[in-house]
Amino acid sequence: MIELDGVRKDYSTDVAIGPVNLQIPAGGITALVGPNGAGKSTLLTMIGRLMGADAGTIEIAGHDVTRTPSKDLARIVSILRQENHFVTRLTVRQLVGFGRFPYSKGRITRADEAIVTEAIEFFGLSDLQHRYLDQLSGGQRQRAYVAMVLCQQTDYVLLDEPLNNLDMLHSVQMMQHLRRAADELGRTIVIVLHDINFAAQYADRICAVKDGKVVEFGTPEEIVVDEVLTRVFDTPVTCIDSPHGPLAVYYRPVAAELESEPAG
Ligand SMILES: Nc1ncnc2c1ncn2[C@@H]1O[C@H](COP(=O)(O)OP(=O)(O)O)[C@@H](O)[C@H]1O
Ligand SMILES: [Mg+2]
Repeated sequence: MIELDGVRKDYSTDVAIGPVNLQIPAGGITALVGPNGAGKSTLLTMIGRLMGADAGTIEIAGHDVTRTPSKDLARIVSILRQENHFVTRLTVRQLVGFGRFPYSKGRITRADEAIVTEAIEFFGLSDLQHRYLDQLSGGQRQRAYVAMVLCQQTDYVLLDEPLNNLDMLHSVQMMQHLRRAADELGRTIVIVLHDINFAAQYADRICAVKDGKVVEFGTPEEIVVDEVLTRVFDTPVTCIDSPHGPLAVYYRPVAAELESEPAG
């Protein structure tokens, strides 16, 4: 379980995130959704201890993130930040290999190599593995970063908008892969998703964040509802049933059309 208790980040006198009290159960996929600037990335980076909180406590599987040594935490939780443009003169394979660092300490074993190869193959990066990151498209680079994070093989995986720059095929493949990691490997995945419908389709729970607060937490059936999404996103949202579960339609003209359709 990930537990936040009274967590706050005070960026300035006008911008404060929290206080947030939140319990994310172990296992499955929890999607963080909400408008731009709501505080999703702030919460995720604090959980991943890339940024300290100004108040409150955060525990992951009973480990207080501010008190657990980095080397231990690196085997418990991995995180993909929203912005990852810090290194470019690395090849895809070198980058993905960094995911093994908490285990290899820089001396990659054959077992590590096999895990790296598997991730590279899975994400369709085999032909690109010796290219430098700045020689890739945005979507290819994004896949390389996610491959690195999953190579870390931690029980808790935090991903901030991993579908950025991905086309339909790669978005679906990514979500299916995460679904399998949760179902078959028992990983706990917390993922910031921009597209509410990916959350509706693949997440077990949706946590809606708005104005620095958690405003909703529930199953897709509970959250993907006209009233809730319209309120969270400040734009008219119409939710429809599909054979795969609820879908949100928020492209205004379509939503308006659906509303005006005669019943039956
Ligand atoms: N380093 C920072 N310094 C000051 N304000 C920040 C900083 N990072 C984010 N913010 C502000 O905090 C709020 C939440 O940002 P963020 O967590 O990135 O939102 P989200 O990921 O939901 O779009 C926004 O108003 C943003 O402008
Ligand atoms: Mg963000």
